[in-house]
Amino acid sequence: MAKPGTAVEHPFFARLWVRMAPSIERQGAGEHRQRLLHGISGRVVEVGAGTGSNFGHYPAGVTEVVAVEPEPRLRALAAEAARDAAVPVTVVDGVADRLPADDGSFDAAVVTLVLCSVPDQAAALAELRRVVRPGGRLYFWEHVRAERRGLARVQRLLDATVWPRVGGGCHTARDTMAAIADAGFVVERVETFAFPDTRLPMPASPHVLGVAVRS
Ligand SMILES: C[S@@+](CC[C@H](N)C(=O)[O-])C[C@H]1O[C@@H](n2cnc3c(N)ncnc32)[C@H](O)[C@@H]1O
Repeated sequence: MAKPGTAVEHPFFARLWVRMAPSIERQGAGEHRQRLLHGISGRVVEVGAGTGSNFGHYPAGVTEVVAVEPEPRLRALAAEAARDAAVPVTVVDGVADRLPADDGSFDAAVVTLVLCSVPDQAAALAELRRVVRPGGRLYFWEHVRAERRGLARVQRLLDATVWPRVGGGCHTARDTMAAIADAGFVVERVETFAFPDTRLPMPASPHVLGVAVRS
């Protein structure tokens, strides 16, 4: 596991994600992104931007997006996506637990499918809180620990074995809602749902999507 503040290099996962990302969008990710980002405005920091799948969903009220992405392959694709975005997007290198930004310099922060992968959730969320102004908002869409005990047990087993190795440090059993609250964000709205919505739940199916206010 990478230590907080160190570079993130997951070249295998980066290649995998480039292949997976279009099928995730086809399964309905775009609708979740659109719903999440509806109403976001001002200066925004997006952390772990991947290939830039959120960029096309930022509404006109967004004045600037600073998109942080540590993986070189993904960052290059995000920079391409930024050119087609309707709002100004600058893609930069950086990691979640050491953001290249001043205190309180953003109106909002966005994380989608990222808090599962950062080496230290508390450190990442503390950084997000640092760079968002008081009263600003954290927009999140993340897969999380299952409510069902059987599935949660499977998640813990996977996290202790293969999942983080093939998934670029991804963990399935994180209690991300608790971590968001512990970091000093007050949840304003949250939905829980399965994605993808398959008959048999997958280890990374349980999702949360919502907005929290920086206290
Ligand atoms: C599953 S992908 C999601 C990409 C994108 N947010 C999306 O919704 O499509 C996880 C992303 O988190 C990034 N990531 C992993 N560890 C990170 C860290 N410590 N700091 C910032 N980003 C990180 C990965 O490089 C990758 O882009």
